[in-house]
Amino acid sequence: MVWRKLRSWFLQEIPWGSDPSLCSGQAFPSPPQTPLSLFAPSGLRITRFLHLPLIYDRTCPMNLHNNKVNFGKPALELQTTTLWEYPSQHYGTSVQGDQNYKGATPSFVIWNLLRRYTRENDTVVDPMCGSGTTLDVCKDLKRKGRGFDLAPYRNDIVKADARSLPLEDESSDFVFIDPPYSTHLTYSGKEECIGTLDARSDAYYEAMTEVIAEIYRVLRDKRYCALYVSDSFKKGKPFVPLGFELFNILGHFFRPVDIVCVVRHNQTLKRRNWHNSAVEGNYFLRGFNYLFIMKKDVETIRPPKHFLKRK
Ligand SMILES: C[S@@+](CC[C@H](N)C(=O)[O-])C[C@H]1O[C@@H](n2cnc3c(N)ncnc32)[C@H](O)[C@@H]1O
Repeated sequence: MVWRKLRSWFLQEIPWGSDPSLCSGQAFPSPPQTPLSLFAPSGLRITRFLHLPLIYDRTCPMNLHNNKVNFGKPALELQTTTLWEYPSQHYGTSVQGDQNYKGATPSFVIWNLLRRYTRENDTVVDPMCGSGTTLDVCKDLKRKGRGFDLAPYRNDIVKADARSLPLEDESSDFVFIDPPYSTHLTYSGKEECIGTLDARSDAYYEAMTEVIAEIYRVLRDKRYCALYVSDSFKKGKPFVPLGFELFNILGHFFRPVDIVCVVRHNQTLKRRNWHNSAVEGNYFLRGFNYLFIMKKDVETIRPPKHFLKRK
C-alpha cells in the first residue's frame, strides 16, 4: 500500500520535462538530466532522468555558460511596483559585495536601479561603497563602477571622504548611496565616519547635507541618483524619521522621481525573541528601507548657494 502510494507520488508529482511555467525565463540549451531513483522494499529500483525545472538567473550569462543552475533563488526581474522585495541579499550563483559585511545593500536593489536609470558604459558612483556591492553589479551590467569609502574594504575601492570625492564636476551618470543610519553599526570607527554621528544630532544632518551636495556636484544634469535608508529606532530612545529627514535634504538639490519601500530580510528579523520583545515593549521592528530616487534637473531645482561647493 505504502509502496503504491509512494510510487504514484514519484510518477505524478515530480515535474517531468522542462515545464515552461517553472522556468525563470529563457530555455536552457541542453537541459541537464538528473537521475532520480526510487527503491521498492523488494529491492526494485525505478530510475528516471529528470529535466529539472530550470531556474537560473537570466541576467547573468555566466550561469548559463558554466551550466550552473541556481535552484534556490527566483529569477531576477525588474520590480514594477513601489514595494520591492527579493528573498536574498545576493542574486545568481555568485555574491555581490561581501555576505559577511554588516550593513551591505541587497544587490537586487542596485541591479534594478542600474537597469532602469543607466545604460551600458555609463559611469556609476558609490561614495560609501562598503563591501563593493555596487561595483559588482556594475560589472554584471557592463557599467563603469567607481567606488569610494573612508575605509576601503577591497582594492578596487578608493579611499575618500564622501563629502569630497576625487571626481570632476558633472562626471557621473548615476550615483547610488547607502549611508550609515545613525550609530546603529560600527564601521571603521574613524573620526570622519558618519556612522559615529547620532541621527538625533545636527552634526549627522550637516554631514549628510555635505554628502548630498557632493553627489549633486559630480552628477550630470538630467541624470539620476538614489539613496537607500532606514528610519532609526532604538529601545528607550525617541524614534527618528531619518527617511523623511534625508528626503527633505535631497529635495533642496533634486527633483523626486519616486519613493520605494524595500522589504527587509535581515537575519535578525528571523529571531522570534525580537518579535516577542517588540510586542511586549509595544514598538515595531524596521520592516522596510526607503529608496529615494531623484533626478538632477538644473532648470527646475537650483540648490541654495550656501549648500554648494565647486572643485
Ligand atoms: C551602509 S554601509 C555601505 C554598504 C555598501 N553599500 C555595501 O553594499 O557594502 C556605509 C558605508 O559608509 C562608509 N562611510 C561612513 N562615513 C563615510 C564618509 N564620510 N565618507 C565615505 N564613506 C563613509 C562606511 O565606511 C561604510 O562602509
